[in-house]
Order: sequence, then structure tokens, then C-alpha cells
Amino acid sequence: MRFDGKRALITGAGGGIGRATAMLFAAEGADLVLADINASALAETAALLPRPVTTCHHDAGSIPSCEALVAALDGRLDILLNIAGILKWGPTADFSAKDFAAVMAVNATGTYALCRAALPLLVASRGCIVNTASTAALQGIAYTVAYAASKHAVAAITKSLAIEYAAAGVRINAVCPGHVDTGMGRQAPPAGVTDWSLVMRNAPKLPDGTLPPADVADAIAYLASPAAARMTGSLLVIDGGQLAG
Ligand SMILES: NC(=O)c1ccc[n+]([C@@H]2O[C@H](COP(=O)([O-])OP(=O)(O)OC[C@H]3O[C@@H](n4cnc5c(N)ncnc54)[C@H](O)[C@@H]3O)[C@@H](O)[C@H]2O)c1
Repeated sequence: MRFDGKRALITGAGGGIGRATAMLFAAEGADLVLADINASALAETAALLPRPVTTCHHDAGSIPSCEALVAALDGRLDILLNIAGILKWGPTADFSAKDFAAVMAVNATGTYALCRAALPLLVASRGCIVNTASTAALQGIAYTVAYAASKHAVAAITKSLAIEYAAAGVRINAVCPGHVDTGMGRQAPPAGVTDWSLVMRNAPKLPDGTLPPADVADAIAYLASPAAARMTGSLLVIDGGQLAG
């Protein structure tokens, strides 16, 4: 029971990786606060868990919503798992500035805002943060300018905060998954994505390179656990060999 007595806040808990992470942390004893913008999906996750949990409506694309979520914790938090995210993509010539801003707001600014709001609580508990980046944090991918920019930002937020808060005893790491079998991972390519070889320049090398969400949950749990007590500022890649070359 790696998380017995630990209070963990999980965003994006209504969906693939967030739901798998909630199930793993619940099984390992965590006291969970689950958040998502989709109330019915969040209720479905809660119904899968062995014990009652607190659920909160939360819009990661709104700084006031991120701050209200932390305020609702009554000053107690050990683990922050920023998992909420959106993918909008397509040929850049047809991709609106509005969509670019929306992706940055949820993925990058939302991660920043929740980290910033939660850090005083995590300093008090000597807790930790695991953010969700992507292989798109570490390479460019055609047609995904907004998403790749937002995930590069998540990597930069993770590393910069890790340096700033190491002396206070707070560890901040990120996972960088490749292709995961979730609602997001199953999105059909948008119209106009004609040259698939530009998207898949670095394909997974393992024959079963698409990840089940539970594999990403395992990586997140490792980073949040005492086994990773000497890790901070790390970007843990889990991608079936995608970025190997
Ligand atoms: N699926 C992949 O291939 C993949 C790969 C690398 C990284 N990721 C990242 O993993 C994270 C989880 O993605 P997933 O694959 O489980 O996707 P998903 O779409 O299955 O789940 C995402 C969850 O986030 C919630 N969400 C969306 N917008 C929100 C908002 N504004 N505020 C609060 N919650 C919001 C959704 O309701 C959903 O429950 C994301 O950050 C994503 O970028 C996914």
C-alpha cells in the first residue's frame, strides 16, 4: 500500500489515464479527490472504486477553477496528479488561433495554475507532483503545433518548478507517454492530415507499442512513490520505444 494515508488530487479522472490512475491509487490506499470537467464521466470513475471519494467539477482551462479546486482541499494535500488534457490538431493553415489558445489554456496554463495553487500545501506535507507531458513534449510532430507546444510547456514547468522547490522537499516530475489506448488516443485524424509519415516519423518499436492506460498509471504511481524519492525534474518516457530513434 504505497499511498496509505496520502491525500491525492487527480485531474482528468473521468477519462482513460486519469481513471486508471484513480483505480490504482485507490487500490494502494490513497485518500482521493477526483476532478474533471465531465461530471457524468467522473461519477462513473467514482462508482468503480472500492471506497467513497470526493469528486469536484473542475475546468483546467480556467485559472479561477484551478484555484477553487485547491481551496476546497482545506489545506491538506500530499500528491498532485495533473492529468487533464485535450488534443486538437490538424494542418496549421486551417488551425485557428482560438483552438491554439484553448489547448494551451487546458494543457499548459492549467498545469501551471494547479501547481502554483497547490505548492504551499505540498511544501507543508513535503509532497510531490506528477504532471502529464507526452512524447510530444520531446519532439515536434507535424499537424500538432498547439499540442506539442503545450506539452513542451508542461516539461518546462516541471523542470523549472523542480529546481525551485527541491530545497523545500517537494518533488516534481512528469510522465511522457507515447500512444495510449484512450478516447484521446483513438481520435481519428482530422481532415487534411494527408501525409501520415510526417505524424509517425518515430513509431513505437514494440509490436504492441500502444499503451494500456494502466501502464501509464503505473509510471505515475512510481514517480509519486517513495521508490522515486531521489527523482525530481525527470521526464519519464513510456512509449514502446517510439523516441529511441
Ligand atoms: N492518449 C494518448 O495517446 C496520450 C499520449 C500522451 C499524453 N497524453 C496525455 O494524457 C492525459 C490524459 O489523456 P487521456 O488519453 O486519458 O485522454 P482522455 O480524453 O481519455 O481523458 C482526458 C480527461 O480529461 C478531461 N478534461 C478534458 N478537458 C478538461 C478540462 N478543461 N478540465 C478538466 N478536465 C478536462 C476529460 O473530460 C477526460 O476525462 C492528457 O494530458 C493527454 O494529453 C495522452
